[in-house]
Amino acid sequence: MNQHRITAMGLIMLAGSLFLTTNATKVTAAAPYDEDAYGPEAPIVWEKPTKVTFSHKTHTMDAGLACDSCHDELFIMESGAVLTTGKLTMAAMAEGKFCGSCHDGNTAFASNTKCASCHTDVNGLAPQDPIVWTKPVKAVIFNHKGHVEDFSLECDACHDDTFAMQKGTAEKAADFTMQALYDGKYCGKCHNGKTAFASDTRCNTCHIGVKGHNRMMGNDGAHATGSKAGH
Ligand code: HEC
Ligand code: HEC
Ligand code: HEC
Ligand code: HEC
Ligand code: HEC
Ligand code: HEC
Repeated sequence: MNQHRITAMGLIMLAGSLFLTTNATKVTAAAPYDEDAYGPEAPIVWEKPTKVTFSHKTHTMDAGLACDSCHDELFIMESGAVLTTGKLTMAAMAEGKFCGSCHDGNTAFASNTKCASCHTDVNGLAPQDPIVWTKPVKAVIFNHKGHVEDFSLECDACHDDTFAMQKGTAEKAADFTMQALYDGKYCGKCHNGKTAFASDTRCNTCHIGVKGHNRMMGNDGAHATGSKAGH
């Protein structure tokens, strides 16, 4: 362990406890642990782009991690600093960066599971508007609201590895077809006649078609002139 770091930390912790004692009735004296190995007591809370809470206690005290497993290579000791880089995203974590260097399913639970353990209001993060794909055929609709609220699915039922959290991603894959659905991929993971209605039934429930798409875009009655809508 780096002696300089511990000394610097001692000062910060001291400043922290002075702050606490002058501001609130918080008792830290009888803490059943070595305070040097604890880190800041108050959780780190990031508000943007989403609300995420990080607890030093569960990482240092409970999981037994040393300060230098995160500082300063993954994070510097300044609340909010990482947000200013704009690089802390779910995609970066999936690549093993930041929280994802441990939250990879080996050292700790993977960052594309147990969403609610890091996010306070996870349902509020789902897009309100329906997602519509226009390739290879126009137009297939997907509603978060129905799936998350009405059918009570957890985000990680789909945002494990089934779908990326970026609309238009699946559309770019050559195998985003009915055959893939019949093989149990994409929507077919559930739309198999067991978990949800089968993909070879009720075509119009998913396929709202060119007319449905126009209606949704507020172009009802407008001519689909120049539209290259697939047939
Ligand atoms: C699992 C990762 C991890 C470990 C282990 C860890 N920290 Fe942190 N620490 C963080 C993160 C994340 C932040 C917030 C950084 C940011 O917002 O950019 C932070 C911030 C801090 C801050 C700044 C707090 C503030 O309010 O500005 C201090 C001080 C700190 N850590 C001390 C420690 C000490 C001391 C230890 C060991 C006892 C420790 N940390 C262990 C992840 C960790
Ligand atoms: C290990 C903690 C952790 C877990 C688990 C986690 N997230 Fe995140 N998430 C973060 C952090 C950190 C950020 C970026 C900082 C912020 O938004 O305050 C973030 C950002 C996001 C964002 C903003 C845009 C983006 O892609 O970065 C969305 C949306 C999101 N998470 C959804 C989810 C969903 C859905 C799940 C579960 C499938 C999940 N998160 C699981 C920590 C986590
Ligand atoms: C150095 C490794 C490491 C890093 C980096 C790390 N974690 Fe963890 N985290 C762990 C371990 C180990 C556990 C406990 C084992 C488990 O729950 O899988 C844990 C548990 C958790 C938990 C569950 C316990 C609790 O606090 O409620 C949350 C939430 C969490 N981490 C969020 C985060 C977030 C957010 C980040 C990024 C700011 C992060 N972790 C970075 C190793 C790490
Ligand atoms: C039944 C499957 C399913 C569930 C459950 C689900 N999603 Fe999604 N989500 C999708 C699909 C499909 C896309 C679009 C992916 C694509 O176009 O490749 C998507 C895209 C997203 C996007 C990107 C939106 C954009 O504008 O780029 C976010 C953010 C998101 N989901 C968050 C969530 C959150 C948060 C939850 C849980 C509350 C959740 N999702 C639950 C299937 C699901
Ligand atoms: C994690 C499981 C799961 C996945 C993946 C999934 N669905 Fe669903 N879906 C359901 C369930 C459960 C229902 C409700 C039960 C039923 O109607 O059979 C449902 C219902 C629907 C409905 C009718 C209700 C509504 O929201 O309009 C449509 C349309 C639909 N899904 C489209 C899709 C599309 C398109 C995809 C792929 C992008 C998809 N679903 C992926 C589980 C899933
Ligand atoms: C659970 C939702 C769902 C149901 C039900 C569904 N589809 Fe699809 N379909 C999709 C998705 C998603 C795509 C790929 C995205 C796109 O083409 O916009 C697709 C693509 C297609 C395509 C173009 C790609 C290919 O495989 O040739 C055709 C044709 C098609 N569907 C026909 C049908 C017919 C016919 C039915 C009813 C027997 C049906 N679909 C039922 C979701 C569904």
